[in-house]
Amino acid sequence: MKNLMAGNWKMHKTIAEGVAFVNELKAQLQDRPERGVLLCVPSTMLHAVATAAKGSAIMVGSEDMYFEEKGAFTGEISPSMVKDTGATATLVGHSERRVIFGETDLVVNKKIKAALTHGLLPVLCIGESLEEREAGKLEAVLSTQIKGGLEGISAADASKIVIAYEPVWAIGTGKTASPQDADDAHAMARKLVANLYGQELADKMMILYGGSVKADNVDELMAMKNINGALVGGAALEVESFTRISNFTCSGKCSCSK
Ligand code: PGA
Repeated sequence: MKNLMAGNWKMHKTIAEGVAFVNELKAQLQDRPERGVLLCVPSTMLHAVATAAKGSAIMVGSEDMYFEEKGAFTGEISPSMVKDTGATATLVGHSERRVIFGETDLVVNKKIKAALTHGLLPVLCIGESLEEREAGKLEAVLSTQIKGGLEGISAADASKIVIAYEPVWAIGTGKTASPQDADDAHAMARKLVANLYGQELADKMMILYGGSVKADNVDELMAMKNINGALVGGAALEVESFTRISNFTCSGKCSCSK
């Protein structure tokens, strides 16, 4: 798998809507093994959606999970509960978790480790706020989030992680980073990964862009050298637009053709 198009449904959809979406997407998805497709869905429908996706190219993941195995953690779900539904991945450290629910890099790190221990694919979300960008702190923020998120994780495990760069100011706002700005941030993130694990691992790491990705801007984003996929919120709620995004048109420059 060289690319990954991931949807994040956030707090939307009923079970029936989720299952209908998957059935439609299955029918419309191009058969291209180098392209992965992942749907991160509310825990209420993880099992139903994972069951509907079974046997297809669509992977299913949770939007979050707790790092403990079991215990008195009212309202939380554990990595093995996520696995039990048939899901194989999880988002970790989405900016809404960080900003609204106060998730720190330490918590993010524990969740990444817990996901890896249970064989779930973690998608580590990073990204700066507008204030941080305007104050020239982009690299410092990415560095803190990458170092903090990956603290104590071996190279063998790091090679099983996907990073999603999502500038907070571009999420749900209709403001997309320009392809060049996004690519520059991805190159920066890749360099930070290389500092930790070496260039070879960094070059292979999938770094997704997220923040107002739509059917009409996905092709230009995917044409950038350092962008290996997308994490899509709003435009992943409609099966037509998410199908178009998943079936993006390859310019010949994107990583899928390398
Ligand atoms: P958006 O959300 O595509 O609606 O901007 C992206 C995300 O939050 O992952």
